[in-house]
Amino acid sequence: MNLIASSQLNSHLISAREVATTLLSRREPGFSLDQPFYNDSQIFSLDMQEIFEKEWLFAGMTCEIPTKGNFITLDVGDNPIIIVRGAENRIHAFHNVCRHRGSRICLNEKGKVAKLVCGYHQWTYELDGRLLFAGSDMGEDFDLASYGLKPVNVESAGGFLFVHLDDNPPSIDQLLETLDHYLEPYQMDNVKVAVESSIIEQANWKLVIENNRECYHCNGSHPELLNSLQEFDDSDDPRATQSYKELVARKQADWDKENIPWQLKRIGKRNRLTRTPLLDGTVSMTMDGKQGCKKLMGRLTNPDMGSLRILNLPNSWSHFMGDHAVVFRVLPLGPQKTVVTTKWLVHKDAVEGVDYDPEELRKVWDATNDQDRRLAEQNQRGINSKAYQPGPYSKTFEFGVIDFVDWYCERLLNNIEQSSAQSS
Ligand code: FES
Ligand SMILES: [Fe+2]
Repeated sequence: MNLIASSQLNSHLISAREVATTLLSRREPGFSLDQPFYNDSQIFSLDMQEIFEKEWLFAGMTCEIPTKGNFITLDVGDNPIIIVRGAENRIHAFHNVCRHRGSRICLNEKGKVAKLVCGYHQWTYELDGRLLFAGSDMGEDFDLASYGLKPVNVESAGGFLFVHLDDNPPSIDQLLETLDHYLEPYQMDNVKVAVESSIIEQANWKLVIENNRECYHCNGSHPELLNSLQEFDDSDDPRATQSYKELVARKQADWDKENIPWQLKRIGKRNRLTRTPLLDGTVSMTMDGKQGCKKLMGRLTNPDMGSLRILNLPNSWSHFMGDHAVVFRVLPLGPQKTVVTTKWLVHKDAVEGVDYDPEELRKVWDATNDQDRRLAEQNQRGINSKAYQPGPYSKTFEFGVIDFVDWYCERLLNNIEQSSAQSS
């Protein structure tokens, strides 16, 4: 797909930044985006530079790096990143790029190491990124201190790990405090990943997020999910029925007794947290709505926690129930290719085969993820057509999509402006 042709802007000199700015300045709010935002390779590069390298991203969970030497890796576009637990429980993040000749250092998605050793020529780094050993032939005056790993900003709270690839990230203290508060009952140091999956969707990352931000499609597509899920999560939602409001009031009173946060909290459009009941009579997102793990999470004593929903734009959402949690991470791989990673979390002392069966635990979201993958891929194929033109979102059913698209446009314009100011 050619950016210039598809956007009808007839100049080879117009950069992707200028094209995006022009298209956004004439966009109709409340409508889906122009075609190039979903399929153009230059706009995709812009997304990676201006959104994924300039916004805080959800990377993984602290329970994945429980002790010294545990690491996880992820790729943010062309940038391989490593997050590792070092001495004194400190969490470090680095570009996973050797300072010798640039090889990727850690090749596995997770593991445990004493030192970070590059497999190419064995340059060896301390867990805090200092270069310890660079072979014997680098000369007497070789300065190890000049060749430490390049750091990446990392923050953690409520069991979530976030990275930011720019040098001067904005503060996310408010999010960190909020997560600590909402996740306190879950005692996120006492959690483990029971099972995980990664699926590739042949769709732009924004279509994956748009699809997640509405349940307009749920009735037609998600029978397994709708065994337990409420299609809305707010008594002020125009669709909220009297019986939903009564259920919410009853459950909120139960949660209050146990000091379980449930209030709807927004941080701009980037974050949204709220606890909402599941369908009356169900306690977990499982095929039969019953507990998928016998042992409850954290300090919880009542399995009926509904679902704490947590959104972190641009790349994560999650559901925390009484017995388990499901967290999702979205990473773009190309203009029309995205990887969605799902992790099912349980209490770390829950015993596989006794307290939970991972195959049962994952069934609802495996089915739902696959259904969503097909929806996003068909959405992509239609958008690629010459007949595509932006269509209207429903304010009642798709306000979450409107919020996401507004957030994206605002951040893209803001970050483009900053980049232009820096380069001029
Ligand atoms: S590239 Fe890493 S040791 Fe040579
Ligand atoms: Fe869905």
